[in-house]
Amino acid sequence: MSRIVLGVGGGVAAYKSALLLRALTEAGHDVRVVPTAAALRFVGAATFEALSGNPVSTEVWDDVPEVAHVRIGQTADLVLVSPATADLLARAAVGRADDLLTATLLATHAPVVFVPAMHTEMWLHPATQDNVATLRRRGAVVLPPAVGRLTGPDSGPGRLPEPADVAALAAVVLDHGAAALPQDLTGRRVVISAGGTREALDPVRYLGNRSSGRQGWALARVAAARGADVVLVAANVTDPAPFGVRTVVVESAEELRSAMVAEAPGADVVVMAAAVADFRPVSVAGTKLKKGGPAEPAAVELSRTADVLAELVTARPAGQVVVGFAAETGDAEGDVLTHARAKLARKGVDLLVVNDVSAGRVFGREENEVTVLSDDGTATPLPAARKDDVAAGIWDAVTRRLPVT
Ligand code: CTP
Repeated sequence: MSRIVLGVGGGVAAYKSALLLRALTEAGHDVRVVPTAAALRFVGAATFEALSGNPVSTEVWDDVPEVAHVRIGQTADLVLVSPATADLLARAAVGRADDLLTATLLATHAPVVFVPAMHTEMWLHPATQDNVATLRRRGAVVLPPAVGRLTGPDSGPGRLPEPADVAALAAVVLDHGAAALPQDLTGRRVVISAGGTREALDPVRYLGNRSSGRQGWALARVAAARGADVVLVAANVTDPAPFGVRTVVVESAEELRSAMVAEAPGADVVVMAAAVADFRPVSVAGTKLKKGGPAEPAAVELSRTADVLAELVTARPAGQVVVGFAAETGDAEGDVLTHARAKLARKGVDLLVVNDVSAGRVFGREENEVTVLSDDGTATPLPAARKDDVAAGIWDAVTRRLPVT
């Protein structure tokens, strides 16, 4: 159990902080909510007290004998400010201590994550951008806001990421510190395939696989948090898309191939995390295959699908980093890494993320454990951890390969 301070700024997105608080407490954390006075005009203190089980204070004059303005920050493992308004970012950047939240930010040694939410004009204003740069230079994580619908009819960058995304990213910082979410993918375009393809047999049946898409989702979420412009080519995953990510929905291997071939040319990084069918039925029945009729199939004839990764490697522009995934088992011919090294060479990728799937490991689990093989011969093991932590390790390996801009 970690101690998290949830700072809540005074913007309409404060309503999402109740759901974020719930996600953090359900993950087992002890959360102390420190709203600004303006935040309490949007959400009542009773909501935060009931959901956190802790008292809620706003001013340095509350709980004076406790010396709350210093103690809350000193004892925190993480300070998460969501939403962070333009005013709150400005006060934090200047080092004001005019309420309990800003005093806490000054008193803490814990990692600090700001999750901005505001109107696009306010976010893009040079004053706000300077404040964000100052906070990042001092070691805080300032997440890029999502692009989307804002209060009223406006749309643009400034939307608060969904609580599930913020909770997942907060967990990464809690475990690995603010250094796990640097802004090293700013200005980079990444295209990620995720999920598992389905090959139709008839209008209701398909051949599919057990990929949950969660590792690809985590890769998209962490890339967006690190500043990337992310396109997610999603095959049959029902989870909502991570914040700030453009999703292209596909079903079959051929649809995934078309989407990747269309999106990849302008990308700095292409990641093939999807489980793509290697075979598809030679013919697809136009009507449902019935039992007992003359058309009852005795066998399904299959043909090979295109190897999307091979096609992307062949067509890649100079400097583009291509990452493949491989699910391997050891056998009499060699261990998992021996097979994976051969696959990396065969596929011509820069990096291969290797899953050992011996004994039914991996599928559908919350955690993952991989080794990142590089074409320079290095092998980086990423120990068993939540998929967002693994994603952060994979992006570390990718950014080491990106050409300097
Ligand atoms: N992949 C692809 N197109 C396919 C099948 C797989 O692009 N039709 C990609 C996957 O997304 C993954 C990588 O290729 O990034 C590894 O896939 P895998 O099926 O393990 O590779 P194969 O070459 O088919 O190896 P094997 O002989 O073990 O089946």
